[in-house]
Amino acid sequence: MKGLILAAGHGTRLRPLTYTRPKPVIRVAGKPIIAYAVENLLEAGIHEIGIVVSPKTEAPVKAALNGEDRAHFSFIRQDDPQGLAHAVKVAREWLGDDPFVMYLGDNLFEKGILEPVRQFQKTRPAAAIALVEVEDPRQFGVAVVEGGRIVRLVEKPKDPPSKLAVAGVYVFGPEIHEVIAELRPSARGEYEITDAIQGLLDGGQTVLGISVQGWWKDTGRPNDLLEANRLLLAGLESGVMGEVTGSEIGNGVRVEAGATVRNARVLGPALIAAGAVVEDAYVGPYTSVGPGAVVRDAEVEDSILEDEALVEGVRLHGSILGIGAKAIRHTARPQTPKLILGDLSTVELP
Ligand code: G1P
Repeated sequence: MKGLILAAGHGTRLRPLTYTRPKPVIRVAGKPIIAYAVENLLEAGIHEIGIVVSPKTEAPVKAALNGEDRAHFSFIRQDDPQGLAHAVKVAREWLGDDPFVMYLGDNLFEKGILEPVRQFQKTRPAAAIALVEVEDPRQFGVAVVEGGRIVRLVEKPKDPPSKLAVAGVYVFGPEIHEVIAELRPSARGEYEITDAIQGLLDGGQTVLGISVQGWWKDTGRPNDLLEANRLLLAGLESGVMGEVTGSEIGNGVRVEAGATVRNARVLGPALIAAGAVVEDAYVGPYTSVGPGAVVRDAEVEDSILEDEALVEGVRLHGSILGIGAKAIRHTARPQTPKLILGDLSTVELP
């Protein structure tokens, strides 16, 4: 079985972060999102992994996977992304007639993808689709299941026929290629994988619906990234490998080798990555301090600081700072400014 990770999308809902880098390479709890997908495929015994990239996403995705030598990667170009089924179409030759797991590169699963892979191998249907029950499924593909089989699928319905959302993992046999070859673009101009699966159903083929265990996160928006960060940090192995002096380190904190914590208070779950410096500062629960990032004379909680980010003299909560981003306040704390404001002036204080 092969793996096909889709990483060609524009990630428009995550701008401005995705102006410079694609979503799958954004770090959550210390690792690029796509690295979790690779982990899960490897755990399911899949080492032959194709990654669908666009001209813009190819280099950063390659860089994010550099050094991962347990898998063999092939990069497949989708120059003009036109939907998920279109991604399968461009990978047709590389996939051959092997069954494959299609994995959306921005999806995270707590417990991996073993179950859909196992169920597919056991009964060899045309497809097995990972499903999750959600409160509001309108922004997802929605499945109607009878006796473990999917009988109907609709993409982002206004009036959902069930609460079962299509999570971003699909196991397909080669049958899917015949349907995709005949597919027409949807109303939004994309070749929808949901329509292709519906095509399998219309042709009388078996499509299994497999309930995903544990949490699942589609990292579409900034709040999703922060929530994924919280969920992943909560499961992170704690330990102090870096250099800690004059500091309080709470439970559930991981200070990686090469990180420095000085005169600080760090409360978990939190990650201080290699090369990061936390100094005269407070790092609170659910914070990832990325490689080489600096938190100095500042307070940060529930946030993601990516590589080389700098937070100085400010208090942050629920924030995401991209690579090399800086949040600086030049005045000393505490923040009790004395203001003499003229008529009609405005000062916005954090
Ligand atoms: C895609 C699929 C949708 C699925 C979702 C899961 O939507 O079209 O069926 O439920 O991924 O993340 P997108 O998030 O690309 O809009």
